[in-house]
Amino acid sequence: MDAPSLLFVAGSARAGSFNKKLASLGSTIANANGIKATFADLGDYPMPLYDGDLEAKDGLPDNARKLEAVMRLHHGVMVMAPEYNASISPLLKNTFDWISRLQYEQKDQQTVFQTRVFALAAASPGGTGGIRGLFTVRHVLEYGLGAIVLPDQFLLPKASGAFDDDGHLTNKDAQERFKGLIQKLARAAHVLHGD
Ligand SMILES: Cc1cc2nc3c(=O)[nH]c(=O)nc-3n(C[C@H](O)[C@H](O)[C@H](O)COP(=O)(O)O)c2cc1C
Repeated sequence: MDAPSLLFVAGSARAGSFNKKLASLGSTIANANGIKATFADLGDYPMPLYDGDLEAKDGLPDNARKLEAVMRLHHGVMVMAPEYNASISPLLKNTFDWISRLQYEQKDQQTVFQTRVFALAAASPGGTGGIRGLFTVRHVLEYGLGAIVLPDQFLLPKASGAFDDDGHLTNKDAQERFKGLIQKLARAAHVLHGD
């Protein structure tokens, strides 16, 4: 079996995004602990808002194909999801929606969502850490896209003061819990989808 590799993505493209910071930290922690990991910035994969007429005319955006290919290079995916009005961010939903359309071209193979293991995390400047958004993200991934999503998840409330200058969490207990989830995702991805 290959050693498991993990992809970290955040549902925000904002330059100062707390969820991007958390995804980047996740990738750093994974690599420091012997787990091959990549951080993918959705800002590098811009896609138009999904529109069936656009799809019929032009097909899928190249960036949907590119990001799906990057996902296929990894065994597990950790999604850092900002909470927007108690739900999923439009960027994350739009990205999932476009990539989900590839299934109609890949008729005889399982989708990238069905063949990776996922874990969820959220960072929010508020006190609840974005947990309400994760209910929707989990629903979309599990029920909509057929993904296996670990029951454990990581929440980072009060995110504006949660990172030190090096991008690590100032709360060492929180950083250990985050590391624990990353290691669990790597183990689950290894068991379920290792080559
Ligand atoms: C349209 C919109 C709705 C939001 N709704 C919530 C919310 O329901 N709960 C919450 O904790 N934060 C909410 N926020 C604040 C976001 O958590 C905050 O902007 C956060 O920094 C976004 O994530 P990012 O830093 O990764 O870009 C909302 C922000 C926007 C723009």
